[in-house]
Amino acid sequence: MDRLQNQTEQNLKAIRGSFLDFVDDPFYVPEKESVRYLPDGLLVLENGKVKEFGPYDELQAKYGEVSTTVYTERLIMPGFIDIHIHYPQTGMIAAYGEQLLEWLEQYIFPTEEKFQDKVYAREVSDIFLDQLLSNGTTTALVLAAVFPQSVDAFFEAAEARNLCMIAGKVMMDRNAPESVCDTAESAYQETKALIQKWHKKGRLHYAVTPRFAITSTGEQLQKAGELLREFPDVYMHTHLSENVKEVEWVKTLFPDCEGYLDAYDQAGLVGERSVFAHGIHLTDSEFQRLSEAKSAIAFCPTSNLFLGSGLFKIEQAKSADYPVKVGLATDVGAGTSFSLLQTANEAYKVAQLRQQKLSPFKALFLATLGGAKALCLEDTLGSFDVGKDADFIVLNPQATKLMAFRNSTEFPRTLDELADRAFSLIMLGDDRAVQATYILGELAYGTP
Ligand code: GUN
Ligand code: ZN
Repeated sequence: MDRLQNQTEQNLKAIRGSFLDFVDDPFYVPEKESVRYLPDGLLVLENGKVKEFGPYDELQAKYGEVSTTVYTERLIMPGFIDIHIHYPQTGMIAAYGEQLLEWLEQYIFPTEEKFQDKVYAREVSDIFLDQLLSNGTTTALVLAAVFPQSVDAFFEAAEARNLCMIAGKVMMDRNAPESVCDTAESAYQETKALIQKWHKKGRLHYAVTPRFAITSTGEQLQKAGELLREFPDVYMHTHLSENVKEVEWVKTLFPDCEGYLDAYDQAGLVGERSVFAHGIHLTDSEFQRLSEAKSAIAFCPTSNLFLGSGLFKIEQAKSADYPVKVGLATDVGAGTSFSLLQTANEAYKVAQLRQQKLSPFKALFLATLGGAKALCLEDTLGSFDVGKDADFIVLNPQATKLMAFRNSTEFPRTLDELADRAFSLIMLGDDRAVQATYILGELAYGTP
């Protein structure tokens, strides 16, 4: 058997181009030690996984005859990871005028009621997943609605596309219309059945999802904790300290708790696979507790600005003394864009308002390997390390006329040049800058 025939039979293929990913956390090591940039690299794929990755010069002799797709003047990155988003809110994005609690009541609960209808839930799931892929997002931590069939519809749509997705049915048994409420017991039973049906089915994972402490009784939070003890490798996903009125209300609902986080902690919901969205108004001791528990915070800047919730203290979350895992998240429908580039853009501005700097590499770390770490998926996702799943995206820094003008100089060779190009992508880019999205090495959106 000659070598070409051998390689074809092994189902090998390759991508050649300029690659950017991270080998460490730029919040804790110098950026140049965390960034891996291959201006002319080769990514060799076998059965949807990374078989080899390195400079083209070094690998061409070995893989020169493998079928290769070449991208010139494009930046190839691991797929973006959105660690907090609500699929049922896709159709209610951009709802005018309210802050969190009124916004939920006026717009969101009536919208989520429609997801009782599984056919409708599947239609929206497909629209939602199209949006993720066209924005370069390949994995997300997703809230469904209260209805189990809304989870079935979502997972069926994700499975059909071979996506790595984490999702769960929201649990809510008070302070919301009856039509979108369950009970502590029905939430327990329905969640348990969904875990048994979907968790670790292919690339899918389940997240136990009490919506937030306002819409769950202490009894329901305890039931959520029971599920986590029964199924230790599922996730826990909820909201935390997003809005000042919300924080005050939680204190009156849980008078025996030390604070908002403690309401979750007393139910056993604060652990390594717990992801808390927002965390804007956390106390120092709450940050410390999240650090000690190895929990993650989803930084949702477009949502936090849209609902007037506040400015997330990323430098405190990423402090060396009490490091907390952080990922970027759109939080659609309170978030105003599906694009993690646009989300990074707003994250930069939030940092500016607090006299901080969020460098382009830090922002892109949060959108890739940082998100994977927040979701405990860094062994399979988030970078081009050998053996990881080949979910990646091709970004075009000249996607619009303005971007083409801004980036008309030669393609970056150095890290400084790359930082400038990456920053312009974050500030000016959105779905138009995503030329292609690959899932397990197969083109899932865009053009080769
Ligand atoms: N807190 C509880 N539910 C929600 C939600 O749907 N969106 C946001 N942004 N915050 C919440
Ligand atoms: Zn949310």
